[in-house]
Amino acid sequence: MNEGFTPLEGIDLNGNCVLLKIDYLFPTGSYKDRGATVLISKMKEWGVQKVVEDSSGNAGSAIAAYCAKTGIECDIYVPQYTSPGKLVQIQAYGATLKRVKGSRERTAEKAMEAASKIPYASHCWNPFFLHGTKTFAFEVWEQMDWRAPDTLVLPIGHGTLFLGAYMGFKELKEAGRIKRIPKLVGVQSASCAPLYQAFKKGWKETKQIEKRETIAEGIAIAEPVRGKQILEAIRDTDGEILAVTENEIGVALKEMGRKGHFIEPTSAATIAGLKKYLGKKRHKETVVSTLTGMGLKSAGKML
Ligand SMILES: Cc1ncc(COP(=O)(O)O)c(C=O)c1O
Repeated sequence: MNEGFTPLEGIDLNGNCVLLKIDYLFPTGSYKDRGATVLISKMKEWGVQKVVEDSSGNAGSAIAAYCAKTGIECDIYVPQYTSPGKLVQIQAYGATLKRVKGSRERTAEKAMEAASKIPYASHCWNPFFLHGTKTFAFEVWEQMDWRAPDTLVLPIGHGTLFLGAYMGFKELKEAGRIKRIPKLVGVQSASCAPLYQAFKKGWKETKQIEKRETIAEGIAIAEPVRGKQILEAIRDTDGEILAVTENEIGVALKEMGRKGHFIEPTSAATIAGLKKYLGKKRHKETVVSTLTGMGLKSAGKML
């Protein structure tokens, strides 16, 4: 769908110049199209006729859209609390919507059961999704005149953008195109921060956490399936994880609106984390972050 090559826009944040990848400008309004286009193209190549996926909403919308484009039938499982905008969007693409009572984890269980019979187009488990999100790295590199930034500040739920960016820059380094993989800084909501906890405690894997409600529904992931891989990527790049409060997310959401960017709260969480990081960045450090999701998708939650 001509997706990709989203703008890399310079903005001023607390007196710092940062570069933001405007990924809410994808066809379905979120960066998930990066992964969905590769994964569903692969499914098409394999002759798959129907898929199942579970999501907090945006990955479900992206998979549903690319399935519509390629003529693959799909069932999308989402938690009941998913924003109405995303529910309408999934159905508009002709997908069958399955709303599941309870947590995001319960939704994943239900999709897994269905996946014992139907191919699983999971953005978390299926590696082809990550090979799509790698394009984030390649685009940033090209837009910065074939250079890598010093630091990337990205959201982490299941970490599909985070890991894709890591893999993309790692491939560029292995190909001799850049000297160093950028420092990877992840952002989680303090209400649901299993990776923040594991990083702070020096653990290799995540452990069970007490999850509270958060307006950042896209990153409310208590059991990230690639937690170990994410922690390794952070340590490999001397990175870190930051946690942001509901109040900080709300402030960032308003601030970005005043700068002309209507984003969803999940994306505002990234900006709240970015602001924290900027407080300690080095003088000439180049920092790239992103706006991952369009505000209209969850406008109801912002009232
Ligand atoms: C708008 C938005 N940003 C960020 C994320 C986080 O992505 P991931 O779970 O792959 O880390 C999501 C996930 O649904 C999202 O919808």
